[in-house]
Order: sequence, then structure tokens, then C-alpha cells
Amino acid sequence: MNKFQVVSTTIKRLFSLLLQLIKLLFKGAGYIIKRIKKLFRFSITFKITVVYAFIFSLLLFIISASVLGVSGYFLKQQAERNLKRNLIQTTEMMTEEFQSYENYLKEIAEKEDVIFAVSDNRRRLLFSTGDNTITETIGFFHQPIIIQETITIEEQQYILQATKYLRTEDTYMTVLFITLLILNSIAILITLIFGSKTSRKMLRPIEKMTKTVKHISIHQLNTRLDVGSSQDELKDLAETFNAMLDRIEASYQQQNQFVSDASHELRTPISVLQGYANLLDRWGKEDKEVLEESIEAIKSESENMKDLIEKLLFLARADKNLQKLELTEFSMGELMNELVKEAKLIDKTHEFGCDVKEDYIFYGDRKSIKQLLRILLDNSVKFTPESGKISIHQRVWKNHIVIEVEDTGIGIAKEELPHIFERFYCADKSRTKSQGGQGLGLSIAKWIVESHHGKIEVRSTLRVGTKFVIMLPVKKVNN
Ligand SMILES: Nc1ncnc2c1ncn2[C@@H]1O[C@H](COP(=O)(O)OP(=O)(O)OP(=O)(O)O)[C@@H](O)[C@H]1O
Ligand SMILES: [Mg+2]
Repeated sequence: MNKFQVVSTTIKRLFSLLLQLIKLLFKGAGYIIKRIKKLFRFSITFKITVVYAFIFSLLLFIISASVLGVSGYFLKQQAERNLKRNLIQTTEMMTEEFQSYENYLKEIAEKEDVIFAVSDNRRRLLFSTGDNTITETIGFFHQPIIIQETITIEEQQYILQATKYLRTEDTYMTVLFITLLILNSIAILITLIFGSKTSRKMLRPIEKMTKTVKHISIHQLNTRLDVGSSQDELKDLAETFNAMLDRIEASYQQQNQFVSDASHELRTPISVLQGYANLLDRWGKEDKEVLEESIEAIKSESENMKDLIEKLLFLARADKNLQKLELTEFSMGELMNELVKEAKLIDKTHEFGCDVKEDYIFYGDRKSIKQLLRILLDNSVKFTPESGKISIHQRVWKNHIVIEVEDTGIGIAKEELPHIFERFYCADKSRTKSQGGQGLGLSIAKWIVESHHGKIEVRSTLRVGTKFVIMLPVKKVNN
């Protein structure tokens, strides 16, 4: 390594060391600033009081300064006018009685607290009632008022000068200043005391809210904030918070219900499976009939369980917003024909009708829409007696594709209608269970419709039939 290389590596090392030091310094400064901020965490009460007291003090200062300024100006004007009047009177007297002017100048000077000085036209002082050299005074009026008049007596010119120190006015101004200072200080003190008390009182609900919220846990979701009788924004905040808690509590309870219903639903097929396994264990090895029956039952029950688990997974994904839609353009008529064809293959006991006079192109998730229509068709098959009619048709209404699934089945009682879209809800429990229903189909159907921004409605009459109406919005109806 030559000399140059040694120097350059040393410089590089020093530079990187310096950089690290600067970084460390910045980090340290940031930490200290954070600590200071934490240490001086001023309350809202303090901040409000200080800000208002400051604004109030500023206003008082402006008002007081204006009062002092205007008073000072008028006092000076008044003193000037008085002095002018005095000078005019004195000049007149001097012109009339020049011989004895000194005596009455002294008299007036004493009476009016004025200094008179008489000088000739060459500015030589002839007479003065006091020390007429001008001195600056301490107070509001530093300079005295000086006015002069030229008098001509026997062709001789004299200058009469009057000097007035504004001592009385100064005293008045000092008294006014001290009075204003005391009054302002008292006003600011009162603002500080009452301001802090009032703002603390006004913000007390926040303290209460914080205390209450601190104690809310998942086991105490029924706690609510005290809304109080006032009508201010804090009441709005408390009400909004309570409404949010209502929603959280409702969804938490819904989740709990979902978990317990799901476990309950899963227990039944597992018990059935266990029962058949025991049966097989005992007699299945010898009895061929028992063996076949058990295998068949195990197959069907595990199929049911798979179906249930798939539905549960679908809803869980939907709740977590993980159920994604694959949007494509597809022919709704084609999808409906396909579905009915499949249904006819599986079920020969019902009469199926599919009315697709006009075909419409829909933009959505084809798989989900097929699942939705299959759920409705399955229900119709399940709840319609043999040789009943099941029909599906579509039309267009106000930029919506309207699909109707209708059957001549057992119908749904009026009081059951508002609940059929709830999870695990079965209108006719015994009947539904015998047909293997878990009450999840319609909640999945509702999710699919809503995720396509559509609406699902049901119209039903007991022992006459049921009609599900789905309205799916389309930007432009194109067929
Ligand atoms: N077409 C229909 N006719 C009569 N009742 C119906 C019809 N469709 C739904 N229902 C009633 O609404 C309830 C809820 O339907 P849903 O599809 O959600 O559940 P399910 O069919 O019982 O079970 P799953 O669909 O999960 O297998 C049903 O149990 C049934 O009582
Ligand atoms: Mg169903």
C-alpha cells in the first residue's frame, strides 16, 4: 500500500465515523425532544385557558393603550389651548401697561404654573419668571409646550415666550395608567381562574369517557358511555361511540352465535359417523346388510359434512372480505339454461320451466351467480312436493336484470319471512332437518347478491308457493 492509499482509507474511515456520530447525535436529539414533549404534556384545559387569556390580555392592552393615547392627546390639546389664551391675554396687558409688566407676569405665572420669558428682538433675555432653559421631564409628556408672541411697543419689538410643563396632566395620566394596570391585571386573573374552571368543567365528560373506555373489554361490551343532558359535541361523540359499541357488540354476539351454531351443526354428523362406525365394529364384519347400510350412511353423512364445512368456510371468508369475485361478462340466459338442464338431470320428480325469451349479458362472477341460483333451485326442489312446478325466468327493469325463481311448494309463514336470510335459520325445523338443510343457503345467496350490489326479495304464501326475486344492477343493458 502506498502513502496515497493509506491517506485515502484513513480519510474514508474518519468520514464514515463522522457520519455515524452525526446519526447518533440526531437520534439522541430526537429521543430528548420526545422526552421533553412527554414531560410537558399540557392538558387541553391549560391550553384553552392560556390561549383565551392571551387573546383577552391582547385586547385589554390594545384598549388601554388607545385610552391612554387618546387621553394624552386631548390633555395636551387642552393645555395648548389654555396656554394660547393666557399668552393672548398677557400680550394684551403688556401692550396696555408695559411699565409694570413684570409684576403681573409673575402673578399669572404663579397662578397658571407657566414660565414667561421676555426678550428683545435680538433674543436677549430681558425678564423671566423662572428658569426658562428647557429640560426634558420623565413621564408621559417629556417636552413642555412652548409658544411665543411678538409684541411691538413704541416701535420696539419684544418676544414673549410662555413655557408650560404638563405636570398636572402627567399626574392624571400616571393615575389613569396605574388604574388601568390594576383593572387589567384583575380582569386577566379572573379570566384565568374562571376560564380554567369552566373549561375543566366542560371537558369533564372527556375524563369520564376515558375512564369508562379504559374499562371496556371483550367481556364488558355492554358498557356504554354516559351521554348526559347537555346538547354539545361531546354528547354527539358519546352517542357515536355508543352506536359503535352497539355494532361491535352485535357483531361479536353474531360471531359467537355463529361459532356455537357451527359447532352444534358439526356435532350431529360426527355423532352419526361414530354411531355407524360402532355398528360396523360390532356386526358389520359378519352382517353384509349392516355393512352396506353403514357404508352408505357414512358416505352420505360425510358428504353432508363436507357441504356444511364448505358453506361455513364461504361465510367465514365473506366475513373477512377474503371471498373474491372474478368479474367477467357472461350470458345470463345461457347460465340459466345450463342450471335447469343440470337440475332436470338430478331431479325427475318436479316439472322445471325456464323462460329466457331475451338473453342479457351480465358483468359479474359467473361461478357465484351460478351458486346463488343453485341455492334457490335446491330450496325449491327441497320444499316443493313431487310433481310440483319450479320455474326460473329473467327480465329487465330500470337498468337491472331481474331473475325470478318460483315454485308451487309448501310456502313460508309470514312471521318466518324476515328471518329466512339469517344464518342457521330453518323455518320448519323438523322438515328441513329431515331434508338435510343447515339454514345457510340463503345467507350465502344474500351475500352473493349484495356483493354484486343487488337486492334479493321473497314473496311467499303458505301451501301455495314461494318466489325469490333477485335484482342485479347493470350499467347498460345489452343483449
Ligand atoms: N322455496 C322455499 N320454499 C319454502 N321454504 C323455503 C324455501 N326457500 C327457503 N325456505 C325456508 O327458508 C329456510 C332457510 O333456507 P336456507 O336455504 O338458508 O337453508 P336450508 O335450505 O334449510 O339449508 P341449506 O341451504 O343450508 O342446506 C329453509 O329452512 C326453509 O324453511
Ligand atoms: Mg337451502
